[in-house]
Amino acid sequence: MTQVTQGPAKTRAQIQAKTLRTDPWYRSPRVTATGLTIIVLYLLFASFANTDYIFGSYISPLYSPCLATTCTPSDSSFFLVPWLTWLTPAIIIIGGPLGFRFTCYYYRKAYYRSFWRSPAACAVAEPHARYRGESRLPLIIQNVHRYFFWIAIAFNIFLTYDAVVAFKNPYTGAWGHFGVGTLMLVVNAILLWIYSVSCHACRHITGGRLKHFSKHPVRYKAWTVISRLNNYHMQFAWVSLTWVTLTDLYIRLAAAGVFGHGRWI
Ligand code: FES
Repeated sequence: MTQVTQGPAKTRAQIQAKTLRTDPWYRSPRVTATGLTIIVLYLLFASFANTDYIFGSYISPLYSPCLATTCTPSDSSFFLVPWLTWLTPAIIIIGGPLGFRFTCYYYRKAYYRSFWRSPAACAVAEPHARYRGESRLPLIIQNVHRYFFWIAIAFNIFLTYDAVVAFKNPYTGAWGHFGVGTLMLVVNAILLWIYSVSCHACRHITGGRLKHFSKHPVRYKAWTVISRLNNYHMQFAWVSLTWVTLTDLYIRLAAAGVFGHGRWI
């Protein structure tokens, strides 16, 4: 009797249908793609605009720290570099926050699903013939996220400084002011810190590579808090990105004179 030899196990379900799911699985990637497209287009416009990014003591978070000599003089103009005049101040520094967000675990999932469709959702066939994952080039580069974390911390320090300076009156420069711009910049700094601290890399830095939590009670406590925040990392990613966008928009409109000269600005 002839024995039939089985071939190698197939790694994927052998079904013709794109998916057997009946729930609206396509909604989430579509909403994500639409939201990200709108925000990225606005941020690109604002980064290249090179105008209306400073209003008195307020500076747009997209332009801070302001490194170019073309920066409008402000409290937040640091390290003015003469050879970067052909770039907008926002484009000079965009690599830091962009690299942090682009390599973020949540955003990776978001754009892999929404734009690259790799896959669009769980149990949905992807259009690509091969899956190489993040263990080889080019996607292995995503591992630089742990280094961008430290760059993001540096940016947060600058933006926190901007939030403190926002307590100066944008017209007179006197301390003690509190307007809508102050509120926007303070909330912006807080949200960016929460987004950064809830990062997976931060969680690993705090509690990773430890054999005994009992011997490191402080790190264990910090890791516990960060782990709780990490559960909401997606929400923090969206809220902080949206708030950065709204803060730039507010300062842009204030600088353009749209709100007049009220004390509440
Ligand atoms: S995982 Fe999202 S910022 Fe690190």
